[in-house]
Amino acid sequence: MKELSLHILDVARNSVEAGATELTITLVEDYDADRLDMILEDNGRGMSADDLRQATDAFFTTRTTRKVGLGLAMLQATCERCEGGLEISSEPGRGTVVRSWLRLGNIDRPPLGDMGGVVQALACEPAIALVYRHSVLSARERAHKSFELDTREIQQELGDVALTSPPVLDWLRGHVKEGLRELGSRA
Ligand SMILES: Nc1ncnc2c1ncn2[C@@H]1O[C@H](COP(=O)(O)OP(=O)(O)O)[C@@H](O)[C@H]1O
Ligand SMILES: [Mg+2]
Repeated sequence: MKELSLHILDVARNSVEAGATELTITLVEDYDADRLDMILEDNGRGMSADDLRQATDAFFTTRTTRKVGLGLAMLQATCERCEGGLEISSEPGRGTVVRSWLRLGNIDRPPLGDMGGVVQALACEPAIALVYRHSVLSARERAHKSFELDTREIQQELGDVALTSPPVLDWLRGHVKEGLRELGSRA
């Protein structure tokens, strides 16, 4: 895929499909280590040991609407091409953690893309609360800054106004974009 954010959205959809009520997305841009970490953690139904072994196999899927499952396999391929990798830990009935990482400076690395759009898309899922954390680390610039957003907190502040109403969704996307800009995100 052209942008890492599209991989992230695709993998996040697995959490929605797994019936999770909470999803945490953590991104860490570490310029000292020249590394980007992308971690998705949910409290969905989890995977059996068998399913877990096959989860990154492009021909394994538990979905019934198509015969190939590509989300995890594609993210893994992108990370491996960029001197990184992908690891999954999962416990049936408890949830799943997908950790992926790659080298920021790798010439093949896709740009991060539109994380505001990812947050916007996930905010439209009524059953799942999203926590999004994003940090930029760089000792040379003496910086360790982070951005954090929790859709539950935003909904609380909104009161009767739905998180999914178009003006709120527009605001949300801009809020993330502005937050990452202030952070000095340049992935
Ligand atoms: N967060 C998750 N919770 C539970 N099962 C998952 C999760 N992520 C992936 N899986 C399992 O791994 C399979 C492969 O996922 P993926 O590569 O995204 O392909 P697809 O979603 O098209 O099946 C899914 O069908 C599902 O069985
Ligand atoms: Mg998927």
